[in-house]
Amino acid sequence: MEKSSPRFVWHYIKIFKWQFMLLAGCVMVRNFADATQPYFLAKIYGIVAEKNQGDYWSEIINYASLLAIISLISLFISESSMFIIARFLPKAKTMVIRDVFYDVNKQSISYFNNEMTGNISHKVNILANSTTDFIGYCFEVMHTIGRLSAAIIVLSWVSCYYTVFICIWIAIVVFISCKLGKIRRFWGNETGRLSSAANAVIVDAISNYNEIKSFANFKFEKINLLKSLRILRKAETTEKKVMGWIRIAQQFISLTSLIIFIFFSIYMLKAGKIDSTQFIFANTVFLNVSFLAFQMSWVYNNVSKLFGNISSALETLAVNPEIIDRDDAFNLKIKKATISFENVTFGYQHRNKLFKCLNLEIKAKEKVGLVGLSGSGKSTFIKLISRYYDVDSGSIKINGYDLRDITQDSLHQNIATIPQDVCLFNRTLLENIRYGDTEASNEKVEAAAKKAYADIFIKQFSDGYNTKVGDRGIILSGGERQRIAIARAILKKAPILIFDEATSALDSQSEIHIQKSLKNLMKGKTVLAIAHRLSTLREMDRILVFDKGKIVEDGNHEALLKKNGLYAKLYKMQVAGFMGDEQ
Ligand SMILES: Nc1ncnc2c1ncn2[C@@H]1O[C@H](COP(=O)(O)OP(=O)(O)OP(=O)(O)O)[C@@H](O)[C@H]1O
Ligand SMILES: [Mg+2]
Repeated sequence: MEKSSPRFVWHYIKIFKWQFMLLAGCVMVRNFADATQPYFLAKIYGIVAEKNQGDYWSEIINYASLLAIISLISLFISESSMFIIARFLPKAKTMVIRDVFYDVNKQSISYFNNEMTGNISHKVNILANSTTDFIGYCFEVMHTIGRLSAAIIVLSWVSCYYTVFICIWIAIVVFISCKLGKIRRFWGNETGRLSSAANAVIVDAISNYNEIKSFANFKFEKINLLKSLRILRKAETTEKKVMGWIRIAQQFISLTSLIIFIFFSIYMLKAGKIDSTQFIFANTVFLNVSFLAFQMSWVYNNVSKLFGNISSALETLAVNPEIIDRDDAFNLKIKKATISFENVTFGYQHRNKLFKCLNLEIKAKEKVGLVGLSGSGKSTFIKLISRYYDVDSGSIKINGYDLRDITQDSLHQNIATIPQDVCLFNRTLLENIRYGDTEASNEKVEAAAKKAYADIFIKQFSDGYNTKVGDRGIILSGGERQRIAIARAILKKAPILIFDEATSALDSQSEIHIQKSLKNLMKGKTVLAIAHRLSTLREMDRILVFDKGKIVEDGNHEALLKKNGLYAKLYKMQVAGFMGDEQ
């Protein structure tokens, strides 16, 4: 995505260049039609003023008929240009949204960690609306420039002095408009930024409404929001005041220039450089365009504001993804997976290094359990395998291929993850399970749900598989959401399976059932399973014990118990009932 606002907008203007040219043609014809109208009017006034003895009615009727024909042509062309605009502006808007959505999806996980999702969608809307509004304003600009050019040309027919006058006048107006536009742009950016900040506070509060209710902290949130709104209100008030002053300045310039033009024309008439018909014609033309100075500055101001909005949205959206596929990255196609960590060092931004020189190999089809105290690095370890973050040094390889040489899509296709917090789409249960394999038939989805022990609770809903799960799966319990995630993973058929506390929210009875289906699911796959409930890891080939980013123990359940180290300590604590809930 282009980072600078002019380039971003230009990209879309280029796409619709033919429509633009057609519209430019319409604008030119219309403006010349408009500019010649005062000529016929002046002729009619002239004839009426002289009150010739002869048959002047037929002359007036001729001029009036020409005036009517030209006005009709102008009307027809200006209205037909609206239809051209109506055809392509909505198209441009959907293209912007489509492109931004596509680019935002390329962002790495850290981008979504840093940016609030509500803020991102707010910026997408601002970007799409401002870009199309900007393109719309381009026609106003074209129209204004067209009218001014037509006025210059027709006035130069009357006298070359008028050409000089109007050119100087336009130069002054453009100069002042640029200066005023800068002030306007500054305030446009400021209000755009503050409005996003206020919006972020609202989104944050709404998405955490559970916490607000349970802590009864609505008053606190209200004060929080009011603080942001107060800052926004102040900025908007100042912006409006600034706009008011700018408007007064523009009106004053238009009025003054009209008065100067009239005096200049009187001087020209007195000096015999123009006759009375030309006097009427020139003043009518200038009267028609003098307000354009004002309109041009308004268009310029609005364009400046839109540019401010586009720039502020691009600051958030046009960020280079932290993790990108190499140009020569290839698609990983594997049936079984060996995972190796070679001298891996990694730390989150602004944090100390979590892993230092980590070396490890997980053989194909090995079932590995990851245990350790909270914050010891288990989830980070599996996120690195999915390349949600790039290692700082060293490398992670699958079957000898460095993750950085593989396309991210193909890597993720080979990994099925059941995360710690399962989030579901606000779609039906059927669609959520089918997400593991979008091509799967209803029968396959139902079979997967049965294996994941989800079928039982799904059938209790009156709409069964067609039940909508609500925002992030709100209508389901934690354990039910986990079962949906397991069903989804069953459908995915990936050679690497990752469970991050996949059964932690299940009751012991459901867990016994699911363990059986998980056993089937794990067959022939490389498995990494994080569990705090150590009893679930007894059957694993190997258990890695994490402590502050280091793997301090590595072996199977029996061997680690014999070793009497951290694992044995944790296990005994659970057996004694301090931490766990079962033996
Ligand atoms: N996105 C992040 N940005 C910065 N630091 C993070 C991020 N995610 C995790 N951390 C930090 O990295 C460390 C390891 O976190 P991680 O989530 O890997 O622990 P964990 O072993 O999975 O813990 P738990 O058992 O509680 O899930 C913690 O100190 C945590 O605060
Ligand atoms: Mg974790």
